[in-house]
Amino acid sequence: MNLSLENQRELPIGVFDSGVGGLTVLRALQQQLPAERYLYLGDTARLPYGTKSPDTIVRYSLQAAGVLVKRGVKCLVVACNTASSTALEALRERYPQLPIIGVVQPGAQAGCEASVNGRIAVVATEGTVRGGAYQRAITAIRPNAEVIAKACPLFVALAEEGWVSGSIVESIAQRYLGEIFSSPEPPDTLLLGCTHFPVIRPALQAVVGSKVTIVDSAQTTAAALSSLLMSLGLLCSARSSTGLESVRFMATDGRERFARVAAYFLEQHISPELVELIDIGLTDL
Ligand code: DGL
Repeated sequence: MNLSLENQRELPIGVFDSGVGGLTVLRALQQQLPAERYLYLGDTARLPYGTKSPDTIVRYSLQAAGVLVKRGVKCLVVACNTASSTALEALRERYPQLPIIGVVQPGAQAGCEASVNGRIAVVATEGTVRGGAYQRAITAIRPNAEVIAKACPLFVALAEEGWVSGSIVESIAQRYLGEIFSSPEPPDTLLLGCTHFPVIRPALQAVVGSKVTIVDSAQTTAAALSSLLMSLGLLCSARSSTGLESVRFMATDGRERFARVAAYFLEQHISPELVELIDIGLTDL
């Protein structure tokens, strides 16, 4: 499909995640790029990606991206750290003309900017930690940085369940992070390397202490996308559609559950009727 630049500019921004976690990125995108329209896909039927093998993560990511590309998007935001760290190359190979941005590089940048002592703890899924993408991205920006990467898969379940604060979350966080942050030379920065984790940020702050800076990739991803679209002449000109009316939500399972949990991430109620249920398996890619 060869569209003129004007027509491409009017297309929505495609955003996908394995579930609702990517909504933390969507929120930042909406704040920084309020004139844009968005198509959000949460692959809720196949969540979590974080415990799957690299081959499966790549296959799922290509399929999710395929749905968005078929609907017509001007760019793709991979709002899932696991998919960003494992499948970005495959996505760029499959769609060489499409601007594609992941969340790992912007997250690494946020972590490096926040840290004073150069010790950065990264919490993420097993898949993201195993692939070492954050470790590489951080040391590429700041070669002397010490990166302590910790897989915290239970945080995903807590966030998806909407259990975002209280003693259960804090004691799990203590189990994962207590030793790292009570070491003689603890990190001064905690990088949330998973798009599900920003909703449990207050509980994490209570565990790691107020001196630790907690950062995520949402704002830096939105800034990176804004510069990319600007450089390509693809930024939407002023339009006044903000909030939910500028987003179409799609999920591969459980509209009600998606809408219920999305409320924690978007901090506003969304009705299940706004969520379109799709079957990726039936998509002709
Ligand atoms: N959203 C995923 C990420 O950012 C976490 C959930 C999952 O394991 O699929 O890595």
